[in-house]
Amino acid sequence: MKLAILSRAPKAYSTQRLRTAALDRGHDVKVLNTLRFAIDLSGPEPDLQFRGRTLSDYDAILPRVGASVTYFGTAVVRQFEQMDVYTPNTANGISNSRDKLRATQILSRHQIGMPATTFVRNRADVLPAIERVGGAPVVIKLLEGTQGIGVILAPDTKVAEAIIETLQSTSQNVLIQSFVKESKGRDIRALVVGDRVVAAMRRTAQGDEFRSNVHRGGSVQGVTLDPAFEQAAVRSAQIMGLRVAGVDMLEGADGPLVMEVNSSPGLEGIEAATKLDVAGAIIDYIGNQVAFPEIDVRQRLTVSTGYGVAELVVHGGADLVGKTIAESGLEDRDITVLTLHRGTTVIPNPRRRTALEPQDRLLCFGKLEEMRSMIPERRRRRDKVRKLPKEPIHEP
Ligand SMILES: Nc1ncnc2c1ncn2[C@@H]1O[C@H](COP(=O)(O)OP(=O)(O)O)[C@@H](O)[C@H]1O
Ligand SMILES: [Mg+2]
Repeated sequence: MKLAILSRAPKAYSTQRLRTAALDRGHDVKVLNTLRFAIDLSGPEPDLQFRGRTLSDYDAILPRVGASVTYFGTAVVRQFEQMDVYTPNTANGISNSRDKLRATQILSRHQIGMPATTFVRNRADVLPAIERVGGAPVVIKLLEGTQGIGVILAPDTKVAEAIIETLQSTSQNVLIQSFVKESKGRDIRALVVGDRVVAAMRRTAQGDEFRSNVHRGGSVQGVTLDPAFEQAAVRSAQIMGLRVAGVDMLEGADGPLVMEVNSSPGLEGIEAATKLDVAGAIIDYIGNQVAFPEIDVRQRLTVSTGYGVAELVVHGGADLVGKTIAESGLEDRDITVLTLHRGTTVIPNPRRRTALEPQDRLLCFGKLEEMRSMIPERRRRRDKVRKLPKEPIHEP
C-alpha cells in the first residue's frame, strides 16, 4: 500500500518506528508535514495539495496530529475521508478525544467505568459540583491538557474553589473529577489497535507526585491486562471512532476507570516497557483495512427518501420477547437488522434464528414510518434512580 504518515515530527521515535515498520513490510511510505497541506474545495471533487502540488494517490493515512494543531490537522484528515482514503482514526474521533469533557460525555452512556466527573460554569454551582463527585480531595483538569500538564489535585474544598475560580476567570474551562485514591499514583496505558489491546503498561508516578505520565517522570512496566481492562480499553477506543489509540485507565476498587483516550499515543515508552512491536501491529492493521474507507452510514443510508437507520429496543413483556428475528415481523415491514446490542456485547448481522431478549437493542435500516411505531417512548431518566426531593424543584 501507499501510506502517508501525517506528522510534524519526522525525527520523533514514534514516526521513525512507524515508517521503518511500513518499509520493512514492503509498503511505500511518506511522512508528510500536516501543516503543509492545502485543502482544496475549488474543483468538482474534494482535493488536497501538498507543498503547493497536487497530492499523489494514497491508499491510507496514519494521522499523528499534535494537540496544538487539532483544528487544522483534523480538517486535513476529514478531507482524506471525503476522498475515500482509509484512516484508522477519523477526524471526529480525534477531535472528540482531544477534549476530556467531550470524550467523557460520549463514553458515559456505554457502561464504561469512569471517575465521577462534573462540569459547571457558574460560581454558585462549584461547591455542589465538588460535593457531587464525593468532596475534596478532587482532581481539576483543563479540558485540553496533555502530558499531565493541567491536571491538579486540590487537597481541600477551599483550594479547589480558588483554583477553579482562577482558571475560569482566565476563560479556561475545567472539569472536576473525583480523586481515585486507590490507584495511588499509578495508571494503566493500553495500546488498542483495531479490536484488541496489542500492548499494555503500568505507569507509576515519581515520589509523591500523583500523575503517572512519563513526561512527569513516571516509570513504566509491561503488564498483561485483566479481561475487564482489556474490554474497557477496546470499547472506549471503538466508541470514540479510533482504531489506534492509547487508553488511560485508573485501577479503581471495582475495576477499570477510563480517564482518557489518546489518538496519537507515543510508542517509545510502551515498546520499551513491553518489548513488543507496536509499530508493526499498527502498520499490519492498516494494511488489512485499506479496502474499507470510513463511510458515514447514517449519511449514506438516508439518501433514499423515507428510509433511514433507527435503534429499536425490545421491551420486557412486549410482543417481541422470545421471538426470533425471523418471527418478529420486521422483515415483512421491510426492516433489516444490522446489529444487535445485548448489554455490552454486539452481534453484527444477527441470524434470523436469533431469539430476542428483553432490553436487546436492534440497530435497523428500513422505512422510517414503519419504524416510528416501534421506537419506545423516550426513557424517563429519573424513573430508575429518582430520589424524591423534599420540595418540588422549579427550574428557571
Ligand atoms: N481522577 C483521578 N484520580 C487519580 N489520579 C488521576 C485522576 N485523573 C488523572 N490522574 C493522574 O493524572 C495523570 C494525567 O491525567 P490525564 O487525565 O490522563 O491527563 P493528561 O492528558 O495530561 O495525561 C493520569 O495518568 C493519572 O496518573
Ligand atoms: Mg493521560
